[in-house]
Amino acid sequence: MDSFARRVRYLRISVTDRCNYRCSYCMPVELEDQLVFQPRAAVLTFEEITRLVRIFAGLGVRKVRLTGGEPTIRKGIVELVRQVRDVGGIEQVVMTTNGHLLDELAAPLRAAGLDAVNVSLDTLDPARFHAVTGRGELARVLAGIDAAIAAGLDVKTNAVAMTGVNDGELAALCTDAWARGATPRFIEHMPMSGGALYHVAQITAQAIRDAIEAVHGRLTVAGGDRADAGPARYWQLAADPTRRVGIISAMTEHFCDDCNRLRLTATGDLHACLGHDDATSLRDVLRAGGSDADVVAAIDRSVTGKRAGHDFALDGTGGPVKHMIGIGG
Ligand code: 5AD
Ligand code: SF4
Repeated sequence: MDSFARRVRYLRISVTDRCNYRCSYCMPVELEDQLVFQPRAAVLTFEEITRLVRIFAGLGVRKVRLTGGEPTIRKGIVELVRQVRDVGGIEQVVMTTNGHLLDELAAPLRAAGLDAVNVSLDTLDPARFHAVTGRGELARVLAGIDAAIAAGLDVKTNAVAMTGVNDGELAALCTDAWARGATPRFIEHMPMSGGALYHVAQITAQAIRDAIEAVHGRLTVAGGDRADAGPARYWQLAADPTRRVGIISAMTEHFCDDCNRLRLTATGDLHACLGHDDATSLRDVLRAGGSDADVVAAIDRSVTGKRAGHDFALDGTGGPVKHMIGIGG
């Protein structure tokens, strides 16, 4: 429990700081040559990750999301999913991925115990997709989404809403996701990297809903467990409640009051908030030969210091200096 009586149930773990894509809002080309990828020795081993997950589970964490960079490029990712799934108390293991390798990996990941994937999908236009992601291949990602659904994974798609990129496609992204059996989600762009990504043109949550309603008709607030939903607010078509859409409005409709999560980087830094640079190294505690109690004390310090909320502002200021690629969303 943090200082604002928010209970932490959910741990996001970045398993690598590397990525096979170069999405403009996450790791923009102008920053590419400034980014230093961590050497292998700096990155947590599977043993270190599972030990930490066991400790977090003992403190009440029930859900783990594996992120990156791109988690599927970490060697042995399927085995890591199995190890995390096997930790007592962990009820749900999920992943956020760009989907590039999902066609091959969906079935083994599901067999290892993965419950769900969120796949980044900003546009349905192959050329635009390649431009946004730097290296991406739309057809592979769509095949990956279909393979994930076929394997029995719960699938959500994530689109960062950007004027001049996908503002004309928001309703179409919904139609496509629903047809595949996935739930579409839209994310307001967050100014990370010390404001260096400010060139991304915002679309507000309200404008996203307006664009969807113009094509699909009225949206109503979807019921369900808020505590479990995380920052996404879910809406449903008034005409067909089975068609749901999630909107993550970090900028214009804050959700920090019921934040239930912590983030661990690939090198073992615990970040209590996405929007601030404060971090506590758990790796240093582990590698200094710390006991579980020492790790708990470090986690406790981090959680106690968890800020009330982020300070992202629509003018591109207020965000952290850290990069999205290092923290995994
Ligand atoms: N703002 C909002 N969303 C972002 N993502 C990456 N960078 C940003 C950003 N600056 C999204 C990715 C991914 C999700 C985890 O975060 O699209 O799907
Ligand atoms: Fe890679 Fe995901 Fe960042 Fe794109 S958003 S560069 S796929 S980590």
